[in-house]
Amino acid sequence: MENKRIIIGNMKMNMTASEVCNYLKEIDGKINSEQVILCPTSIYIPYFLKKPFKVGLQNVYFHDAGAYTGEVSPKQASSMGIRLTLVGHSERRLHLNESDDLIRSKIVDALRNHLVVVLCIGETKEERDMLRTDKVLKKQLKGALKGLEPNSLDHIMIAYEPVWAIGSNETPSNKEIHDTIAYLKTLIEKEFDYPDISVLYGGSVNDKNIEDLNKIDNLSGYLVGGASLEVKKLLKIIEVVVNQ
Ligand code: PGA
Repeated sequence: MENKRIIIGNMKMNMTASEVCNYLKEIDGKINSEQVILCPTSIYIPYFLKKPFKVGLQNVYFHDAGAYTGEVSPKQASSMGIRLTLVGHSERRLHLNESDDLIRSKIVDALRNHLVVVLCIGETKEERDMLRTDKVLKKQLKGALKGLEPNSLDHIMIAYEPVWAIGSNETPSNKEIHDTIAYLKTLIEKEFDYPDISVLYGGSVNDKNIEDLNKIDNLSGYLVGGASLEVKKLLKIIEVVVNQ
C-alpha cells in the first residue's frame, strides 16, 4: 500500500442524477490524483468511472451472486473495475444493525475479490464519556478481523471515525487522534502480528481544519463525508493533503 496520504470522499446517499452531473462537470480536470477515491451512491458509479481519480463503494455484501435483493456483491464491484470498498460504517451499524460478524463476512469476500477494504470503527459519545473508547475499538477490530491471515491486512485500512464527530463539526484533538491511531497500530501488531497498519481519520474533516489535522504524523489519510459534496471544500482538502 502506498505511503502517500489518501482522501476518500464518502458521498453517502446524496445528490440527484442532475446534481451528480453538475458536480462532475465542476471537478472535471481539477482532480488528478491516485490519492483521491470518491465513493458515490452506488447507482451513480458508472458516471464516476474512467476519470483521473479512483472510485470506491460505500458498502458491499458478501457471496458472489444469488438471491440477495438489493445487494451488490464484491465480485460484481470488482467486475466494474472498482478496487476499494468501505465496510462497517457507523451509519450502517446504527441504522441497519450491521454486526461485527456480518462485517467480517463482507471483509472476507471483498478480499477474495481483490478489493481493498476500509474498515470503519469508532466509539459513540456515550462510550467516550464512559472512557470506553479503547475497549469499544478493540471489540470492533477483533470481531471484524478474527481468523484473518496476517497477510490479508496488506489489503485492509482502518478508518477511525468517532461516531460523535461524524457530521457534527466536532473533532477530537490532534493528540487524541494520534494516540488512538497509535493504540490501534499497537493492538493490530499484538493481536494479528501485523506491524504498522494504515489508519485513516474520519469525522468532520473539512477545508478549515485539514491543515491542522494534517500535522498528525501517524495517519494515512482521511475519510471525508459532508465536505466531499462541496467541490470547493473538497479541492482545498486535496490541495493540502496531496501537496503536503
Ligand atoms: P463527515 O462524515 O465528514 O460528514 O463527518 C464522515 C463519514 O461519515 O465518513
